[in-house]
Amino acid sequence: MNNRIVIPPMCQYSAGEGQANEWHLAHYGNLAMSGAGLMIIEATGVSPQGRISYGDLGLWDKNTAHTLSKVISFIRLHSDLRIGIQLSHAGRKASTDLGWKPHQYFQPDEPHGWQIYAPSAIPFGAHGSQILNKRGDKVHYYSICRSSETGTFHRHRHGGNTWCTWIPDTPIPFTDHKQTDR
Ligand SMILES: Cc1cc2nc3c(=O)[nH]c(=O)nc-3n(C[C@H](O)[C@H](O)[C@H](O)COP(=O)(O)O)c2cc1C
Repeated sequence: MNNRIVIPPMCQYSAGEGQANEWHLAHYGNLAMSGAGLMIIEATGVSPQGRISYGDLGLWDKNTAHTLSKVISFIRLHSDLRIGIQLSHAGRKASTDLGWKPHQYFQPDEPHGWQIYAPSAIPFGAHGSQILNKRGDKVHYYSICRSSETGTFHRHRHGGNTWCTWIPDTPIPFTDHKQTDR
């Protein structure tokens, strides 16, 4: 790194179907010229169900990888700062409205909602959840592979705030009731 100034991950709630667009180009392009040593791209869903909201960035298939790659490639034309990405799964806090709107959960049958997956069925607020199967560990793995293809340097797995509590080595006892091969 050129210096120790780090831009933390900041959700933009501006993606469509997980795909980056002109907003991300302008936003990350601008931050990349700031002189910071490392920029960490916002919480990026490892699966559609793992997004906080329907506007979250994602990295779960070729389309999401391709659109994010375009942003990274553009930055690379102008800046050599290190780029990281926060791979996340919102678990019990998924399927909510955009960050600047009044906080609310969407039920699976609502237009912007889906069935959420979490390491326990303990609801967060009024939100019910479905117990996650071990598929979770795999989607993280696939996303990590895809993020290498996009040219990011540092991968930060989001396991804080009781979100992505299916990371095998970081159990959160109150809400993590799944059985894994730890
Ligand atoms: C608009 C906004 C979006 C954020 N999105 C994320 C995020 O995607 N992932 C995360 O871990 N933290 C997120 N945060 C928290 C920041 O990364 C950071 O940790 C927080 O702002 C505290 O840093 P500060 O003390 O320098 O302000 C967000 C904060 C803001 C203001």
